[in-house]
Amino acid sequence: MRNRRAVLAGAASLVLTLAACGQNSGSSSKVGTIGIAMPTQASERWITDGKSVVKDLKAKGYETKLVYGEDDPKRQVAQIEDLIKQGVDALIIAAIDNESLNGVLKQAAAAKIPVISYDRLILGTKNVDYYVSFDNEQVGRLQARYIIEKLGLEDGKGPFNIELFAGSPDDNNTKYFFDGSMHLLQPYLDSKQLVVRSGQTALKQVTTLRWDGPTAKKRMSRILAASYANRKVDAVLAPYDGISIGVLSALKSYGYGSSGKPLPIVTGQDAELASVKSIIAGEQSQTVYKDLRQLAEVTANMVDDILNGRQPRVNSRRAYNNGAKPVPAYLLQPTSVDKSNYNYVLVLGGYYTAAELQ
Ligand code: GAL
Repeated sequence: MRNRRAVLAGAASLVLTLAACGQNSGSSSKVGTIGIAMPTQASERWITDGKSVVKDLKAKGYETKLVYGEDDPKRQVAQIEDLIKQGVDALIIAAIDNESLNGVLKQAAAAKIPVISYDRLILGTKNVDYYVSFDNEQVGRLQARYIIEKLGLEDGKGPFNIELFAGSPDDNNTKYFFDGSMHLLQPYLDSKQLVVRSGQTALKQVTTLRWDGPTAKKRMSRILAASYANRKVDAVLAPYDGISIGVLSALKSYGYGSSGKPLPIVTGQDAELASVKSIIAGEQSQTVYKDLRQLAEVTANMVDDILNGRQPRVNSRRAYNNGAKPVPAYLLQPTSVDKSNYNYVLVLGGYYTAAELQ
């Protein structure tokens, strides 16, 4: 690492010298090419991430090579290998499978390419330099707090029926979201104000491979058929909007959403367009908004700092141990959004136009 820094700092001062000689006019940045490996275009958020990171890097004078692995870990490894062969100066990676990148990141280290773990922490390798994400445990807490408030659990109300969903088992964020939620929900499960009729409460029982909405829909349908013949479900902890939409679809096909059988509270994450529209229509209850423009900006600044021999800013008090080393982290804050504040947060905040939400 120290060696890599020294090399980068040396390269940066050379660039600055060239710039001073007028060979790199108009920017004090090292002009370079940045490889960006995103997980999938199936979810709208990653498309926004890709566009925002490219825009911010271009504004700093960088060229970019953006690839999507379409939720296939092997394809992502091949794409990163290819970016290394093309001689990129830095890599920004949102991993599909957090443990499958060990081999390819050895190649990146051998080529002295710095690596930023974007949104999802890459595990089990020393060859990752920084982690840029949101406070993911807080995401889980915001989802749980929403359920607690809406059901009046702090006022002693209950018992209520809840079902739990978690994200993809190969995504490190899944654990953070679930732990954050369960930290707040567990006391109510213990006091029986919340009851999980399916009995599925362990993380490994509630994960959703690749965050896939149809997979969540199938699981919710199975649970409704098996455990809710003569009962109703009052809340569903859903960690991501794609899962929320799948869950809502299952609920509707079991008659929820009518006046006699209202939809339960359903949480979410990412403020994806379909979910914000669903919130406005009174179906999905909540989402957790993460301003991806900020994530992109922090990442682009970090890349620029690294390539110019400056110490990138980190703001997390703790470095995140990825099993091989503590990775210095910059974490942003998420915001809970529902019908009462979507206009203020998302429209006035410039994330969506009012027309997009029609
Ligand atoms: C997670 C990410 C979430 C959500 C999910 C599914 O890693 O932190 O915001 O996008 O993937 O794409």
